[in-house]
Amino acid sequence: MNLINFENKTVLITGGARGIGRAIAGMFAEQGADVMIGDFRIEDAQIAAGEISLSTGRRIEAMRADVTDFEQVKKLVGETIRRFDKIDVLVNSAGWDRLMPFVKTTPDLWERIISVNFRGVLHTCHTTLPHMCERKQGSIINISSDTARVGSFGEAIYAASKAAIIAFSKTLAREHARDHIRVNAVCPGLVETPLIEEMRADDDFTAKILGSIVNYIPFKRLGRPEEIAPVVLFLASDAASYITGQILSVNGGLNMVG
Ligand SMILES: NC(=O)c1ccc[n+]([C@@H]2O[C@H](COP(=O)([O-])OP(=O)(O)OC[C@H]3O[C@@H](n4cnc5c(N)ncnc54)[C@H](O)[C@@H]3O)[C@@H](O)[C@H]2O)c1
Repeated sequence: MNLINFENKTVLITGGARGIGRAIAGMFAEQGADVMIGDFRIEDAQIAAGEISLSTGRRIEAMRADVTDFEQVKKLVGETIRRFDKIDVLVNSAGWDRLMPFVKTTPDLWERIISVNFRGVLHTCHTTLPHMCERKQGSIINISSDTARVGSFGEAIYAASKAAIIAFSKTLAREHARDHIRVNAVCPGLVETPLIEEMRADDDFTAKILGSIVNYIPFKRLGRPEEIAPVVLFLASDAASYITGQILSVNGGLNMVG
């Protein structure tokens, strides 16, 4: 019996155009799922959808949506249900960060980081949950971050926004267990993605911090998006039918939280 099988399942994923989200979308399709990618980088999202569809034969679509905009998210969710009839799994992978000591940050930066990382998750969950409740089934996986569990130099607001996701996920898990909806969060450590590349290029401060972290990772290397994806699939699958409200780190041993 293959418990990690997503045939006849529909997955909605935000941030699926590149990085970790792209790997998750691809792996779901490899396991038989149809996938809707919601991302504000629509060209990259369409390219990803085309490539995944070609290699897996699954139905993969892409739609432009900025997760910070509630109306756009409402449209994304409505359109996904209209086109695919249902949403079985919601994965929130859209996220954004810039490294800076807290005292140098500005309210504009706080707003952007909180909006993308936390408010975006509120938007997708608020619009998808009524549909999942009606069907009395569903699984939500929120991509948080290990920064939320242990703090991270230069990422005060980002870490706080990702910690908010953890508290939010646990609360939704409690509220919706009766609806047979499971809610879990995955905390990547440091993963080689376009986001990290862009951050490295930002300034010497960021490049130095990111460069030094690898020394503290027992595996002595960054993670790969393909190493985050299987954990998301596991949590979304029937193999995790008794798992809800849990937070799982995937970090090469960087942090070992009790
Ligand atoms: N890379 C890491 O080391 C790392 C570590 C911990 C957590 N994470 C989290 O993993 C997730 C994926 O990160 P990544 O490293 O793959 O980043 P990435 O930038 O490579 O990919 C993020 C995707 O989200 C999309 N996105 C960003 N803002 C959006 C918005 N407002 N609306 C819609 N789409 C938006 C981007 O277009 C992109 O396709 C994020 O939530 C990030 O915070 C990453």
